[in-house]
Amino acid sequence: MNTTYKAVKISDCVYWVGAVDWGIRDFHGYATGRGTTYNAYLIMADKITLVDTVKAPFREEFLSRVASVVDPASIDYIISNHSEMDHTGCLPEVLKTIRPEKVFASSMGVKALGAHFQLEQEITAVKDGETLSLGSRQVTFTEARMLHWPDSMFSYLSDDDVLFSQDAFGMHLASAERFADEIDGGVLEYEGARYFANILLPYAPLVEKLLAKVGTLGIAPEIIAPDHGPIWRDDLAVPLENYGRWAAQKPTKKAVVVFDTMWQSTEKMARAVAEGLHVGGATPMVMSLKSCHRSDVVGEILEAGALIVGSPTMNNNMFPTVADILTYLKGLKPANLIGAAFGSYGWSGEAAIQIKKVLESMGVDLVDDVLKVKYVPDGDDLARCHALGEAVAGRLVGDRE
Ligand code: FEO
Repeated sequence: MNTTYKAVKISDCVYWVGAVDWGIRDFHGYATGRGTTYNAYLIMADKITLVDTVKAPFREEFLSRVASVVDPASIDYIISNHSEMDHTGCLPEVLKTIRPEKVFASSMGVKALGAHFQLEQEITAVKDGETLSLGSRQVTFTEARMLHWPDSMFSYLSDDDVLFSQDAFGMHLASAERFADEIDGGVLEYEGARYFANILLPYAPLVEKLLAKVGTLGIAPEIIAPDHGPIWRDDLAVPLENYGRWAAQKPTKKAVVVFDTMWQSTEKMARAVAEGLHVGGATPMVMSLKSCHRSDVVGEILEAGALIVGSPTMNNNMFPTVADILTYLKGLKPANLIGAAFGSYGWSGEAAIQIKKVLESMGVDLVDDVLKVKYVPDGDDLARCHALGEAVAGRLVGDRE
């Protein structure tokens, strides 16, 4: 049996048996510059239990890590906390290899697994709050609907105080280190925030509810074991407080100016708006869509107070890259933002108006009407851009005083 890849012990009876994806750079539209991991866990209780599996191409690495602890055929139970294929892609093959006694998922998980795979094995639905005996250990399930999918649930190994949290508290970060306390705190903060912004932001109100629910259930983990990135074992206040703060989306003085440009007119406008923001006391972050990926923009917006979007008009429309970022942002539902729309044009000038409509539909509180400039901004036009930046800053700074 292949045991090239080794498991990593994370508690008395729990082992990490996941896989490291060093090369992935696009995770369904999210730029994963540092790769990712697909975490799976092996509980060596009387009933040997696997929590989640990995993405299909990593099956061999995953089974090798399992085999470094126990013959995979000895696994009795599999718990599927989340049906998305980065955690279930190799489940059908694994079921054929292992033939476990039982497979457990939430009721929505049973449906999702059925819709994804033609599984011969029956999946047993577990209820919110239900406890499963593994003989020498017990696991309690907590539904975490929409964090990240309707099927998502947490599994809590109470005897060892390990919370298996699937996507929640995770991040896309490939590393040889398995624990968060072995990794630079700045990297954890940056990648954790990007993950929250790009994956969980639409469900931020549910995050707040779930954190409160976990508190009332008496779940007091000493280890949080997510399905991506490092495992938290030392200072759990860091991920818990980060999630509380990111979910609250409290506005800051940061203002994100995101734009694209054809002949640098809209870029000149963006730079003048940023100068006005700075003079007014805000903290501008200027992001050209020629060099910034949509997932980086969302990462910056997570802890911002303003979103200002600019586009030239091309063929009666906003620039395609601007349509892309607005579509992405609208789906992620950022909250508590003020904003504005601007752009240059030649003869028709629809882009800024189209942006304004999208921002309004997102619930962004617009500071002013659209700011449009014909062809190339002159000194007066740039002064209007500067004034727009100052007006946004005035609202941001005022809101925080
Ligand atoms: Fe990591 Fe929602 O899957």
